[in-house]
Amino acid sequence: MKVDGKDFRTIWLAGDGWGVEIIDQTKLPHVFEIVRMETLDDAAVAIKDMLVRGAPLIGATAAYGVCLSIRNDPTDAGLENTYKVLHATRPTAINLKWALDEMTALLKPLPEGERVAAAYKRAAEICDDDVEICSSIGDNGHKIIADIWEKKGKQGVVNILTHCNAGWLATVDWGTALAPIYKAHNAGIPVHVWADETRPRNQGASLTAWELGKHGVPHHIIVDNAGGHLMQHGQVDLCIVGTDRTTADGDVCNKIGTYLKALAAHDNNVPFYVGLPSPTVDWTVHDGVKEIPIEERGQEEVTDMTGRTADGSVVTVTISAEGSPAGNPAFDVTPRRLVTGLITERGVCEASPEGLAGLFPEKVIK
Ligand code: MRU
Repeated sequence: MKVDGKDFRTIWLAGDGWGVEIIDQTKLPHVFEIVRMETLDDAAVAIKDMLVRGAPLIGATAAYGVCLSIRNDPTDAGLENTYKVLHATRPTAINLKWALDEMTALLKPLPEGERVAAAYKRAAEICDDDVEICSSIGDNGHKIIADIWEKKGKQGVVNILTHCNAGWLATVDWGTALAPIYKAHNAGIPVHVWADETRPRNQGASLTAWELGKHGVPHHIIVDNAGGHLMQHGQVDLCIVGTDRTTADGDVCNKIGTYLKALAAHDNNVPFYVGLPSPTVDWTVHDGVKEIPIEERGQEEVTDMTGRTADGSVVTVTISAEGSPAGNPAFDVTPRRLVTGLITERGVCEASPEGLAGLFPEKVIK
């Protein structure tokens, strides 16, 4: 996507052919800063401290993290340590494990001398594939938006609510939940997005709003509690969210608060869709509530907020009562019964074992 007229992905190989560059998403929307990664530690910190975030981008960063690491140590022991370090960074998004498994399966059988070149090639493929997958999700989701636009008699706008950031910043390009919106907007359908601010880290207010604004998509930031009210008053035509891990049975794990939006959508007959790239399906788990590990993040994300003051400086302030502890579960699980459909690169399916198996028969674990 474009930033001020220039094409960007969220991660790319530096001009010297070995360093890896990313956009530091902790600084957005106030500062657009590019960071160079050179080591395993750089990649691990970028994921853990959320310079990069969003399930597909976490996977892509892990793939390049393997490249950076084995430049220094291409041995089996080096590979194993790399896997361990990167896998420990964040527990919920399955794309991290998926990318590490892909890299390990490719590299382990190769002689040490061939591993680095093969790793860079595969990491680049993982990135290119992600762009293709997200673009196809965009095409498939665009049809849903176009149908709703037809049903509205092409009057007014199509109002779409989204939660967190599942746009191009969360992937390599295009996004998952936002790809259909970009495709519909590019095709001339008047879309308007309600962007949940997404406390505690405000990915909606900081990232979704920033990227929609840069692309010229009309939107409003709303507080996380506003969605139900807007749905009751007919101001949401559909919801589209992303996912960090979806089970083989169709339960959807995504940013904390997604479940409440799905409940409100269900109560108001608002369609609730999920943009789902296939590497985000965990074919080994079935019951999302019981089986998916939910990341618990630091209290300071809840008690403190960062923003820009009138003089342009970016500061962090405490908003809570001194001494009150905070809980910070980062994700929740939306049971499949609340999901209208999964928008994948191969088409839209029911959120069910049959629906996913119908589109991805070769992935099902028997
Ligand atoms: O904690 P984050 O910012 O990594 O969480 C991101 C999300 O929950 C996204 O909705 C999800 O990864 C889908 S990204 C296309």
